[in-house]
Amino acid sequence: MKDLLLANEWLLAVAGDSVSKPMALPKNHPAHELAESAYLRACRNLETSHTPVWFQRQAGRSLPEYRNIRGDGSILEAIHNPELAAEITLQPVNRYGVDAAILFSDIVVPIDAVGFKIDVVPGIGPVAASPFRERSDLKRIRSLDPENDTSYVIETVKILARELTVPLIGFAGAPFTIASYLIEGRPSRDHAKTKSLMHSDPELWHELMERLADISIVSMRSQVLAGASAVQLFDSWAGALTPSDYRNYVFPHSQRVFAELADLEVPRAHFGVTTGELLDQFGEAGPEVVGVDWRVSIDQARFRVGENIAIQGNLDPALCLAPWEVVKNQTLEILKSAGNKPGHIFNLGHGVLPETNPLILEKVVKLVHAETSSSSKPRS
Ligand code: CP3
Repeated sequence: MKDLLLANEWLLAVAGDSVSKPMALPKNHPAHELAESAYLRACRNLETSHTPVWFQRQAGRSLPEYRNIRGDGSILEAIHNPELAAEITLQPVNRYGVDAAILFSDIVVPIDAVGFKIDVVPGIGPVAASPFRERSDLKRIRSLDPENDTSYVIETVKILARELTVPLIGFAGAPFTIASYLIEGRPSRDHAKTKSLMHSDPELWHELMERLADISIVSMRSQVLAGASAVQLFDSWAGALTPSDYRNYVFPHSQRVFAELADLEVPRAHFGVTTGELLDQFGEAGPEVVGVDWRVSIDQARFRVGENIAIQGNLDPALCLAPWEVVKNQTLEILKSAGNKPGHIFNLGHGVLPETNPLILEKVVKLVHAETSSSSKPRS
């Protein structure tokens, strides 16, 4: 009876005015404390003092300080060490003055943690010794219990929540991109085995996608509850699909991932490469932010995803190996394409290449900040 009364009181509170609505995250959560930061405001399409910048793969082999402390083992070993993973996350924030940190981890961490063995081989990427082949392989994908399976990730996030003065972005691999690694057993150019399973056994495909979606949801929830202020769903390879295959075989699962994180009230970003023809669906899936690669201009991307969604991108990482003049001109071109509208987060169109000179990225941050700060002239 008492429980019922309490439940009723709570219902009345949420049904009433928004003032009495319980806050999704505690008051002292970084998402609240950093709510006015340029990155979190831009995610919500609000005016900012300058265009925020961060770089996908900003932590990693392009940084000498990363190579110094990372050691020779598998990247998974470094991720299993919270002090080290937190330090690596902080390195690019300290060096570049970027407006957000991204957790140092990898998209295959949760699936490896539930026992579907995957290693990350330097120079190659994720490799599964025993790939996903048939229905019986579903047994190898149990649900994720973050407290036990990935407690080291939670610990890393907690350290970072204490140390960072900019928002921390948590992340997960999207069901399609993870499925591709599981089915192909390694990075693939054509995703042929993945598409073959999708079309030859749709029922098994959807069951696999459901399990992977559950893992993404649970993993990102645990990162937010531990102190991440935003999340990004990486569907890096979804651009390999036709719009109709994406719609039928992938969209419902990614949409569910976003829907099941909505109550946390943190910005949700959605990214993939070569997604030009999928951008409308990437937006429709439910995120606040859509990340685009360099093949689509920012204004076109905005047009395709819809005005309410912020756009993240989109300098070609390969251009960062060219002389500064080239990088500078392209950066200015991107800012021009974004115009003076709110809702642009400057980034690369994909990850930093290991050969990148960090000085170039440092200059990009300075240039974007200087060009877009409130005191500078408006761009036409
Ligand atoms: O700075 C950051 O972006 C944070 C950490 C991060 C890593 N991986 C660390 C990492 C993030 C967000 C990822 C996501 C990830 N991992 C994606 C999605 C983003 C994308 O690039 O599309 C994908 C597809 C992976 C899978 C993966 N892991 C690949 C393809 C590789 C590259 C293999 C190689 O050696 O070139 C990795 C390894 C990896 N993950 C590295 C880093 C810093 C480099 C290897 C190392 O330092 O040992």
